[in-house]
Amino acid sequence: MTGSCQDAAASDEPAGGSARLIVAGNASVDLLLGPLAPWPTPGTEVVVERSTWRVGGALGNTALALAQLGVEARLVWDVGDDMLGTWLTDRMAAAGDPPRVLEGATSLTVALNHPGGERTFVSHLGHLAQSEPDALANAIETAHTGDLLLVGGSFLLPRWRPALPALFARARERGVRTALDTGWPTEGWSAAVRAELTATLAHADLFLPNLDEARGLLDAPHADVDTALAGLAERVAGRSVVKLGARGAGLLDAGDQVIESAPAVRVNDTVGAGDTFNALLLSALRDGMAVRSALRCAVHGTSHALARAPRQLPRWSVLRAELAHTEPDTPASPLEAAS
Ligand SMILES: Nc1ncnc2c1ncn2[C@@H]1O[C@H](COP(=O)(O)OP(=O)(O)OP(=O)(O)O)[C@@H](O)[C@H]1O
Ligand SMILES: [Mg+2]
Repeated sequence: MTGSCQDAAASDEPAGGSARLIVAGNASVDLLLGPLAPWPTPGTEVVVERSTWRVGGALGNTALALAQLGVEARLVWDVGDDMLGTWLTDRMAAAGDPPRVLEGATSLTVALNHPGGERTFVSHLGHLAQSEPDALANAIETAHTGDLLLVGGSFLLPRWRPALPALFARARERGVRTALDTGWPTEGWSAAVRAELTATLAHADLFLPNLDEARGLLDAPHADVDTALAGLAERVAGRSVVKLGARGAGLLDAGDQVIESAPAVRVNDTVGAGDTFNALLLSALRDGMAVRSALRCAVHGTSHALARAPRQLPRWSVLRAELAHTEPDTPASPLEAAS
């Protein structure tokens, strides 16, 4: 690759001033077991060959990616008061702020791998069911103008959900730029879920769904990327970036559809790819990078990280210098309205 994400000296210092990242959301423990076939008969025991413990959840994945990049962030998260909470706190120690400890079990997902790559997930919400949004409110009140706030995994935080429209409105009022990645709603895309999310998006600077989530919000299960981006533009105060898996990601920039194709790489495991993508996109935006360059950094950086086992990102300064940018930067501000 030639060129760079941005024509700036390679350094970990943000080029866009002293904007800080704040990442708030869910962290949990994932236990991966497999391969499992056929599905066990109730009452029997099955022995599998592999088991792995892993940090999971939107905040967990994004915070670990930021730590690998060497990009500092304020973290707003919590764990339960059990051994999994201690383990999670320990694994996240290098990523930044420690969690608040809540009474009860830590959120746990058991992922059963089937031959052929399919997975079955069994989850317990654990501490996430108890988590209150007061620490997020406090982070917004103490943030500085221009700081970037990402809320990730909000659909798994039942007590945060009703508070988000007002919290996003307050963040905007304080000049804090907001980004939202909800994940998939556990109850499905009901009219109530769509209304709830639309109320938050009216105050959001950046919405970060994948295409299926965008279709769910729009109640348009077969919408193509073009239609999805146009529909989102009507609902989001700022702009949307739609993640497209092996196809990359897309956005609208001054009314133009921009699709950044992912490089063809052999990936092992795409769990949490969207959260790694968010870490890269926000690092680029924090640097004051134009949105098309930031998109390019996020797509290429994520795809190359997925090609390494275990997943690994280089330092942000190195990545920024390495990645080519073939699209000209636009003068548009990174998070201003899409059209
Ligand atoms: N098979 C793949 N090949 C190459 N790159 C990929 C592949 N899958 C994902 N990516 C990269 O990861 C980015 C984000 O992935 P994806 O679209 O799967 O997000 P997501 O659905 O939000 O993921 P998740 O919700 O599981 O975290 C893509 O834009 C792309 O750069
Ligand atoms: Mg996602």
